[in-house]
Amino acid sequence: MKNYSFTRLFFREKKLIILAFFLMAVQSLVMIINPLVMKFLIDHVIPSGNTKLLPKVVIFILIVFVVEFIVNLSYRIVLPHIKEKTKKNLQSDLLGRLIHLDLGFFNKSETGTLNNVIERDTYVVSVFIGKNLLPLFSQLANFIAVSVVIFALNYKFAALAMLFLPVCYVLYTLVGKKIEKIIPSYYGFYDKLSQSVLQIFSGIEIIKAFNKEREEHDLFDTISNDVVKAENEINTIDSVGEVSAITLGKLISMGFFLFSIVFIMNGQMTLGAAVAFYAYLGRLYDPAQQLSSVIAQRKRSMESFRRIKEYVEMTPKIQDHPNAINKSELTQAIEIQNLSFSYDSEEYTLKDINLKIEKNASIALVGESGSGKSTIAKLLMRFYDPNQGSVLFDGIDIKRIKNDSLRVMIGYVSQDSFLFNQSIRENLLCGQKHVDEEVFEVCKKVNIYDFIVGLEDGFDTVVGERGVKLSGGEKQRIAIARALLRKPEIVIFDEATSNLDSNNESIIQESINELSNQCTLIIIAHRLSTIKNVDYIYLLENGRICEQGTHDELIGKKNKYFSLWNRQRNEDFGNEKDRSMLNEPGIFHAK
Ligand SMILES: Nc1ncnc2c1ncn2[C@@H]1O[C@H](COP(=O)(O)OP(=O)(O)OP(=O)(O)O)[C@@H](O)[C@H]1O
Ligand SMILES: [Mg+2]
Repeated sequence: MKNYSFTRLFFREKKLIILAFFLMAVQSLVMIINPLVMKFLIDHVIPSGNTKLLPKVVIFILIVFVVEFIVNLSYRIVLPHIKEKTKKNLQSDLLGRLIHLDLGFFNKSETGTLNNVIERDTYVVSVFIGKNLLPLFSQLANFIAVSVVIFALNYKFAALAMLFLPVCYVLYTLVGKKIEKIIPSYYGFYDKLSQSVLQIFSGIEIIKAFNKEREEHDLFDTISNDVVKAENEINTIDSVGEVSAITLGKLISMGFFLFSIVFIMNGQMTLGAAVAFYAYLGRLYDPAQQLSSVIAQRKRSMESFRRIKEYVEMTPKIQDHPNAINKSELTQAIEIQNLSFSYDSEEYTLKDINLKIEKNASIALVGESGSGKSTIAKLLMRFYDPNQGSVLFDGIDIKRIKNDSLRVMIGYVSQDSFLFNQSIRENLLCGQKHVDEEVFEVCKKVNIYDFIVGLEDGFDTVVGERGVKLSGGEKQRIAIARALLRKPEIVIFDEATSNLDSNNESIIQESINELSNQCTLIIIAHRLSTIKNVDYIYLLENGRICEQGTHDELIGKKNKYFSLWNRQRNEDFGNEKDRSMLNEPGIFHAK
């Protein structure tokens, strides 16, 4: 969203804002009337002794009170309403933008800061609009109304009273400048605090395993102290400004009161006019005094709005091309041509990659940890765009295919088997509609059905954050079932069986074998025994394809793949030997 402006945000709830302004205008009118009635009573009714007028005045005052009650109540209901609506609008704009940003953005951003922007910054801006800015308009309306009346009552006094304003202006400018200096570090500390909290809870197991509780707590306290220090500084400056303005206002009012006694004695002013003038003075200075707190809030709110605007106006790097097409089917092949890619534009993670996957063929990406296997999968999903070269589906550049349709075509089982904190059923469906029978069938295929129905709440069991209530293997099988349920054209398994025992591994293997005739398979694996039957294998090393071919071809080459194969076989053989030795009587078994 371009040109996201504060003014536009302010007027987004047009009807409510107009209503608020109307209520403010009525409030000002009512506020003007009361002192004038007092003046009338003191200057006309009391001296004339005309008691017949009293009931009429009382009725008039009562009507004014009723109107004041209704208007004040409505005003107090409308303002929080505007505040909440503004917050909701801001949050919706933010999330609507953030959720579409590319993974590169999320790699760079801290969750704590994003959380703060969505939760705290939107709150600060909405409170400013609902609790400071709108009431300030009301105060401003009162100020104008009072100014007109006091000038009518006594223009000399009124002109003198106005001298208070430049003093206030200087005071508030100073306050504003001081606060402005502290605000950025205050926000920085707050972001760090949120990040620290998020990190503690997401890494609680490691914190406990490494006895880091005290250390993390101390770190939290240190950041928290910085937040308190900055907050206190802002509050102190704010209070100095506010109390100075109030005292100054009172001092001037008192001066006027004394002056007016002299004026009354000299017959230059009536008692009623003096009382009304004094009553108006308070209302004249109120808005100016309130400006002080508005200034502190304004500085905070503007910083919060700046942060929100920065995110809302961001353009996702991965976007649909204006002429992007919907693609629902792979008819020929997926190709990667001369592709190079870097996450941070410093070092290439992938270099000169060329590969081809025919429709319904199965390929494997193997290689050492960090060699770039998952990165290739992410480029096929268009989570990132390559720096050089291209990814083609049936000869069409991936950038010319609508992202939504691309991701419908691909079933992706990621390396970390992420699950949402929802029921198993919701995790499996992942927003799609499937009848229970379909879900059950896929779950049986990946050998998770019996486990799920054995749970107290069956498919309605909530799995906890990131699936914390399940084992690694259980999560992995649910993640596989989730991908298969979409009946994708292409399936990417990224280490899909790494957490499974050998029994489950061979069951999943069977399902994968079944799939190999029905869809295009891209399998990423460390254990070569799990991929030896695929049609073609690419061995990666430091982001480059160093060997490729079928399993037999690669074994025949007696090069890197061959040594890796032998190394793994020796490890397996060693493990087998260890296992059989464990079963031998006399070694570990009690007689
Ligand atoms: N989001 C990221 N930002 C920056 N660098 C990254 C990011 N993700 C991965 N890398 C780096 O890119 C390289 C390739 O990572 P990738 O995840 O593709 O490896 P992999 O072959 O899948 O490894 P593994 O077998 O351990 O899963 C690694 O050096 C890694 O540190
Ligand atoms: Mg990986």
